[in-house]
Amino acid sequence: MARPVAFVTGASSGIGLATATILASSGYDLALFDLNDEPLENLARTLRQQGGKVVPVYGDVASEVDMDRAITAIRSDFGRLDAVVANAGINGVWAPIDDLTPDEWDATIRVNLRGTYLTLNRTVPLMKDRGRGSIVVVASINGVRTFTNPGATAYSATKAAQVAMTQQLALELGRHGIRINVVCPGAIETNIEASTEIRHREEAEVPVIWPEGSVPITGGDPGRANDVGKIIMFLLSDAARHITGSPVFVDGGQGLLS
Ligand code: NAI
Repeated sequence: MARPVAFVTGASSGIGLATATILASSGYDLALFDLNDEPLENLARTLRQQGGKVVPVYGDVASEVDMDRAITAIRSDFGRLDAVVANAGINGVWAPIDDLTPDEWDATIRVNLRGTYLTLNRTVPLMKDRGRGSIVVVASINGVRTFTNPGATAYSATKAAQVAMTQQLALELGRHGIRINVVCPGAIETNIEASTEIRHREEAEVPVIWPEGSVPITGGDPGRANDVGKIIMFLLSDAARHITGSPVFVDGGQGLLS
């Protein structure tokens, strides 16, 4: 039987990297996409040692030209697509609404929302061709359960929109045998701090006192990228054949507190 093929965006780091690693060890061939080329190349080299085919594509998830290069590579290298993980994202600038500039607003919307749209816009035709497929979008508890991160308005708006997109598309894509679900992680230890700029936090902050740590199940520690990757793997698999349009919170209960 041919190996299933998955496309993972934002695969050079964090949740995308963990997901790609789990998928490779579960028998998937992979097309991996990221802006950051060196770590992507290293990951591809490591994962190939498990016997599967791994094709790295460097590019900006919000660029039509770059996304089309990825689709061309998927068509020519694999000739099929079974699974998509729309994961690439940035925290962007977190600042009070009257301080956040239009360019900063656009930058977050561009990567997180246009990037998700383009990923789905370009990959869905490949899955429609086969009459089956599974998509997982990586959103957040922010904008869905949590609104206490000061100044995270643009970020939260993109994450709420990703959940809305998932629910809308679950109905649209069902007749094509394509499932789509969304994971909403809480704090996860990754490199996302590198894509974060926080300004005038005190102006947007609401005082909150957490009861003994903000992540109940770990006593306060953040989750691991693997914790999210395993759930993504489950949602992509046939074990989740009756789940579509569902947000799954991977937050150790954090979002229930905040
Ligand atoms: P990360 O920063 O470790 O990894 C993100 C990856 O996306 C990086 O490799 C980066 O190069 C890539 N990327 C960023 N902009 C890109 C673009 N324009 N085109 C292509 N690739 C791009 O961050 P992490 O935490 O793994 O984030 C992955 C997703 O998880 C994001 O959508 C984020 O919003 C979401 N998330 C993360 C949480 C956390 O606490 N780390 C919590 C909730 C959601």
